[in-house]
Amino acid sequence: MNILLTGGAGYIGSHAAVVLTEAGHQVVILDNFCNSQLSVLERLAKILGKPVPFVEGDTRDTELVRKILKNYKIDAVMHFAGLKAVGQSVQKPIDYFDNNVAGTISLLQAMRANNIKMLVFSSSATVYGAPQYLPLDENHPTQAINPYGRSKLHIEEILSDIEASDSNWHIACLRYFNPVGAHESGIIGENPNDTPNNLMPYIAQVALGRLPYLNVYGNDYDTLDGTGVRDFIHVMDLAEGHLAALSFINQKSGLNIFNLGTGKGSSVLEMVKAFEGVSGKSIPLRVTNRRTGDVAACYARVDKSSTDLSWKATRTIQEMCSSTLNFQKNYKCNNLS
Ligand code: NAD
Ligand code: UD1
Repeated sequence: MNILLTGGAGYIGSHAAVVLTEAGHQVVILDNFCNSQLSVLERLAKILGKPVPFVEGDTRDTELVRKILKNYKIDAVMHFAGLKAVGQSVQKPIDYFDNNVAGTISLLQAMRANNIKMLVFSSSATVYGAPQYLPLDENHPTQAINPYGRSKLHIEEILSDIEASDSNWHIACLRYFNPVGAHESGIIGENPNDTPNNLMPYIAQVALGRLPYLNVYGNDYDTLDGTGVRDFIHVMDLAEGHLAALSFINQKSGLNIFNLGTGKGSSVLEMVKAFEGVSGKSIPLRVTNRRTGDVAACYARVDKSSTDLSWKATRTIQEMCSSTLNFQKNYKCNNLS
């Protein structure tokens, strides 16, 4: 298939570009590079042994998107483009709703104009809000607790209305848990430009001696060791989940919601231990207050994705840690920015 990847130069989109291309699909990337670098395209070409077609532009430019869909004879769209920093979304809600929600509406208008009705959307486990029970299945009530999460929930609701209005749409909403790790080449991964907010990139910076210690945000949660528990999933497993979701919606219309996680929770201290194991470095810690908005534990029930998509995350925590470390070492040493 010819597949448009909006935001395909970003962290998850670039890994999906590799998996989809290696599976024989033709991908085209649309990205405005607001949170990625042009050089990602060179690195993708290095991994794939051929250039990846791309257009620099914005999903909110409906006319541009319409032209891309037509010129590249696109069959399906994977919509990764969006802003994703929770804290920033609280400061700049208008920007988040504009980019995420208006950007999606613009894309949908362009798709409708070209009669393209196959879409895989990057949603998030954040739409569940504070878990009422665990593991979280796809029927768990949704409740967003910040503008970023609300933007994802609004989009899911829009997609649900569209599917109800026209049964020719084939849509997958993929609710990602905590994507971490990097491609084995070590040349694409999560962009570590700023001081990271998320756990794994932060631990890697400490392991590499670029940050002095890890702040552990609370050790008094009702979990095995008192620290937060999350469902960390290797980004390559996640990317393979997109391939599986695409072949599923190719056969099945409607709105199809899937959790993409491992089904297993790991605590902050377990991740630290695993990282120490693969890096051979000790990670200094400081326990501080809980971070506002954090929940004690969040992990997925993955029965639906494993049954319907015939897909399962297989990579281990050690692989998540070693690939993160490998990318971050490379990133600095080879000036990959
Ligand atoms: P990312 O920031 O690395 O990638 C997003 C890409 O989209 C970037 O390359 C950025 O330049 C581009 N972009 C943003 N707005 C655009 C626009 N209007 N037009 C064109 N390009 C635009 O983020 P990611 O981690 O790869 O996340 C991809 C998607 O998955 C996002 O929608 C995000 O909300 C969602 N998601 C991510 C996570 C995570 O932990 N990384 C978890 C759940 C959901
Ligand atoms: C965060 C976002 C979520 C987003 C996800 C992936 C918040 C409140 N939630 O989720 O919406 O989908 O990132 O981008 O920002 N931790 C530390 N020290 C650190 C960093 C994190 O102890 O320096 C702990 C956290 O308290 C948490 C766990 O590590 O218990 C995981 O944190 P993080 O990687 O930020 O992911 P989430 O909070 O799950």
